[in-house]
Amino acid sequence: MKELMISPSILSADFANLEKEVSAIKAAGAKWVHIDVMDGHFVPNITIGIPVVKSLRKVTDLVLDTHLMIDNPEKYIEPFAKAGSDILTFHFEACRDISHASDIISLIQSFNIKAGISIKPNTKPEVIFPILNQADLVLIMTVEPGFGGQEFMHDCAMKIPVIKENAPENIIIQVDGGINNLTSKICTSLGANSLVAGSYIFSHNDYKKAIQSLY
Ligand code: DX5
Ligand code: ZN
Repeated sequence: MKELMISPSILSADFANLEKEVSAIKAAGAKWVHIDVMDGHFVPNITIGIPVVKSLRKVTDLVLDTHLMIDNPEKYIEPFAKAGSDILTFHFEACRDISHASDIISLIQSFNIKAGISIKPNTKPEVIFPILNQADLVLIMTVEPGFGGQEFMHDCAMKIPVIKENAPENIIIQVDGGINNLTSKICTSLGANSLVAGSYIFSHNDYKKAIQSLY
């Protein structure tokens, strides 16, 4: 994928006005929207679930980029796919082993949507090498998953070129956590082609300016 895809994370949006927020990021130029699903087990926070994805599907044609930070992801692939996700990303750390991760990718792709595999800051990129040919997207976390507004972990960005060198050319390399107008440039220069940004975009009054400053 050549074009840089910005995926605003609605974790930092006004939850009482999600439809308005999603329309506003679309008007500001976003083509994707990042939906952070947390279960209170895999991460110490609880956020959005299936009904919210379903409701967003009814009001937007943006690409629904759903990030599952949950245990037992295989149990929830079908409902999140049927709710209207276009991309479903799950965590390698929530899998028993690499073959379990491979099975979940196949399950996601059986719904004709894109499958992403994510790694937390302490997970080495090499562990997912065996499934890079199969995944549509790799999500490199540059904060510990669980909360918006944390500081970008520079060390984690060094995983970007490692994945890029070992993955097919058309893979989407997405970075999530602490993205702002400065850290975005670090990630894109290292080879990322999709950036998630929550607090940076939604704390601006002008979403368009905020999104444009990430390029
Ligand atoms: C963190 C989430 C992120 C979060 C990013 O667990 O996966 O998507 O919303 O927030 P910022 O951009 O504020 O670091
Ligand atoms: Zn996320």
